[in-house]
Amino acid sequence: MKRLPFIAGNWKMNKTVGEALELVRELKASVQGIEDVEAAIAPPFTALYPVSQELKGSSLHLASQNLFWEEKGAFTGEISPMMLKEIDCHYAIIGHSERRQYFGETDETVNRRIKAAFNHGLKVIFCIGEMLQEREGGLTFSVIERQLDGGLKGVEENTIEEIVIAYEPVWAIGTGKTATPEQAEEVHQFIRQKLGRLYSKRTSEGIRIQYGGSVTPENIKGLMAQTNIDGALVGGASLNAESFSRIVRFKEM
Ligand code: PGA
Repeated sequence: MKRLPFIAGNWKMNKTVGEALELVRELKASVQGIEDVEAAIAPPFTALYPVSQELKGSSLHLASQNLFWEEKGAFTGEISPMMLKEIDCHYAIIGHSERRQYFGETDETVNRRIKAAFNHGLKVIFCIGEMLQEREGGLTFSVIERQLDGGLKGVEENTIEEIVIAYEPVWAIGTGKTATPEQAEEVHQFIRQKLGRLYSKRTSEGIRIQYGGSVTPENIKGLMAQTNIDGALVGGASLNAESFSRIVRFKEM
């Protein structure tokens, strides 16, 4: 099945509003006219609204870096799916390893966030991936399986089509140590097989699986050449218009 390649930029805790607007203006110009690759950016919360205004009429999609599962109420510091929907957010990144490592995110809280996003018509970029010691201990597949089972618990076949999985080995994030295309493909294939057991084969064939972890303009092409790699979640290299647009334009290389 043909899957539309999807490149998303995760800005993490970077860029003031002024800097975000400057970057997004450059990006809009440099990805203009690309139709055979979907692109999205995930600025920090303070920049989401001004960036959403700047993106009106552009094919570049907006993503948040997280969301909370309640609609409103006494949840200091959290952002609700409704609030994101209101400002034209398309996607929410959920379960990023930095959330899991530093902010106590678990498979269960990830699952609640995913379901809340779907209930409000937001699409999800669901992040999974093993730590270095888990890989070295031969636990990669069991960790991935646990994260998929936990994160997707109770998520129905008719909504799962709106999900994008981001496989991000934690040891490759921000380290400059990208997984080789073969290492990544092995896990992507495993993820697709697992999705085929949780849902129908047809559905699993349609779900896009991004790779994340030190993706650059130099290594994107080799990764995208793999059968089960359908895009990338890009951190560091998404903070600069030139490098991010070169990644989005990987087909032209
Ligand atoms: P990186 O981050 O590209 O800087 O390694 C990827 C991510 O955390 O999504």
